Amino acid sequence: MIPDKVPKEDVFHGSEDLKKTAHIPSFEIYKELYLKSIENPDEFWGDIAKDFFWKTNHTGPFLDYNFDVTKGEIFIKFMEGASTNICYNILDRNVHERKLGEKVAFYWEGNEPGDALTVTYRELLQKVCRFANVLKSQGVKKGDAVSIYMPMVVELVVAMLACVRIGAVHSIVFAGFSAESLCERIMDSQCSLLITADGFYRGDKLINLKLLADEALQKCREKGFSIQRCIMLKHLSKEAEETLLGSQSPPAKRPCSDLQVPWNPEVDLCWHALVRGASDECEPEWCASEDPLFILYTSGSTGKPKGVLHTVSGYMLYTATTFKLVFDYQPDDVYWCTADIGWITGHSYITYGPLANGATSVLFEGLPTYPDVSRMWEIVDKYHVSKFYTAPTAIRLLMKYGREPVQKYKRESLKLLGTVGEPINPEAWHWYYSVVGEKRCPIVDTFWQTETGGHVLTPLPAATPMKPGSATFPFFGVVPAILNESGEELEGPSDGYLVFKQPWPGMMRTVYGNQQRFETIYFKKFPGYYVTGDGCRRDKDGYYWITGRIDDMLNVSGHLLSTAEVESALVEHQAVVEAAVVGRPHPVKGESLYCFVTLTDGVTFNRTLEAELRKQVREKIGAIATPDFIQNAPALPKTRSGKIMRRVLRKIACDERDLGDISTLADSSVVEQLFHNRCRMAV
Ligand code: WT7
Repeated sequence: MIPDKVPKEDVFHGSEDLKKTAHIPSFEIYKELYLKSIENPDEFWGDIAKDFFWKTNHTGPFLDYNFDVTKGEIFIKFMEGASTNICYNILDRNVHERKLGEKVAFYWEGNEPGDALTVTYRELLQKVCRFANVLKSQGVKKGDAVSIYMPMVVELVVAMLACVRIGAVHSIVFAGFSAESLCERIMDSQCSLLITADGFYRGDKLINLKLLADEALQKCREKGFSIQRCIMLKHLSKEAEETLLGSQSPPAKRPCSDLQVPWNPEVDLCWHALVRGASDECEPEWCASEDPLFILYTSGSTGKPKGVLHTVSGYMLYTATTFKLVFDYQPDDVYWCTADIGWITGHSYITYGPLANGATSVLFEGLPTYPDVSRMWEIVDKYHVSKFYTAPTAIRLLMKYGREPVQKYKRESLKLLGTVGEPINPEAWHWYYSVVGEKRCPIVDTFWQTETGGHVLTPLPAATPMKPGSATFPFFGVVPAILNESGEELEGPSDGYLVFKQPWPGMMRTVYGNQQRFETIYFKKFPGYYVTGDGCRRDKDGYYWITGRIDDMLNVSGHLLSTAEVESALVEHQAVVEAAVVGRPHPVKGESLYCFVTLTDGVTFNRTLEAELRKQVREKIGAIATPDFIQNAPALPKTRSGKIMRRVLRKIACDERDLGDISTLADSSVVEQLFHNRCRMAV
């Protein structure tokens, strides 16, 4: 898929106009600054830190770390001794020092067209302070973990920043996750409080969120962990209109007669009632640089999600800087990132990065296809969006409907496009560039991970010549390398494991509550390096091309899932004795789940069982993990030592007969049988 040599005409440049005002106007300047950033990170980040407020200054070295497991514990520390508060930096200072109080922080656009409201920086600060006081009155203290399970509403940002204001650690769980997944994350974070909402619509589907939250809390109780309090926002229910919106015009909400809001007076509290009596003054809690900021769970290859921990100062500097330079942020921009705040993209590039820069963003609750496939472009025109950031899966989805739904809207305001989540295939890149951006907008293909906190490989729009499908070059402070299987660094054009040689401010600090796992996953394979888990190729011009995961992870619509996680959901069904899951390329989702199941003796495979298994996985993990294919596998291809050969299963899923060396298989007749019965159509 990755071309050996990109023809000249396939290298794209930002316009001359863009270069006139850009923060990094040329590749020469990028190179110069890049060298400074890696040779003297203290000075580079020290200059950037001057733009932020520090209650106390750092005392020790600016950066201190160990990446080598053979030399002792892995650690990363930035600006030790300094103290600050992110909420204070991104709200109070914008309102009071930069006089941005009346500037719009968010244009909230609901699932239903016409359902919208605007929040200024001043209003956001006020809401955050009120809710921070609510959290304090509920006994939440500095260092406590708080779980948040909410739809894409302004109050989600309010809840997260209220935690940050009082030094509590938020753990946001994407509202598309199941009760089981929420329970697992609540238990791991040991949080004392859950914040949720009554429900929301995704397109025309009603999600009874409170019902799911209650189910999760019940599961926690059964496992011996009780949450004392649950604060619920009324988003869909009637009162929401009065208390939430104040003077705003009531939104055109869909009828929600099916909404179920179970209520347990011993645990449940109403957001609106609590906020009504709260003061809007709240002194920020000053936090040390390396105090925990938030936990965000991401799939782990053993099946158990890992709580990626980010800390205060480094994350603040890094998200603010990447946002400013990668999107070349200018004060009159209207920026829109279509991700959900429940993922790292939303954390870094809806909440922290944009607010740190005083930017105006669109916060969108809905889907790109609802009520029709023009919705994105309608919103772009409505708010005059200038910088637009989405995922390859959304682009491929919209591509299917052709140009017409795009061209119904003008999109004249667009200046820059961005992509994230998985490698973008050149065809989708070209469509995005030509049809959406009308060849006028550079595309920033940003490679990063929940663990990296912010962009690590990315073009800078006015400086980096773009090659479709390549995330191009490292961001400031990031030192990539490509290693072969024996851990040797490869020079020049090469293909191998993508690793990083030194930390940048925004990288994760540990796996919450499990330092051992942190070291094992990221640092044991190649001592001295952070291992991304991605394969990568460097071309003759030094461009980096991500070739996809090289561990047992799948990327479905830009979201990582571990095969082990799906397999364990399947084998929990009594009809299944063994399961093996592989990825099968999918034109829109990137990869889809193809599951092989071996059934208990005497059970027959039929449509009903198949539907039950699909439901089982959805309920255990969430809708994104719904299998597309389930195949009955009376036996799985195993080596003599009993290891399942997934490589062979991947070939069967794609009907590719060229199997390579299968001499280590214990019984090769299994393969023929599986080919014979393979699923031809997704369910
Ligand atoms: C994995 C991280 C970072 C936010 C979204 C996903 C893949 C991400 C790109 C890109 C090629 C990409 C990698 C990475 N990935 N962006 N621009 N080009 N691959 O966060 O769930 O932590 O997943 O997504 O495989 O390791 P995540």
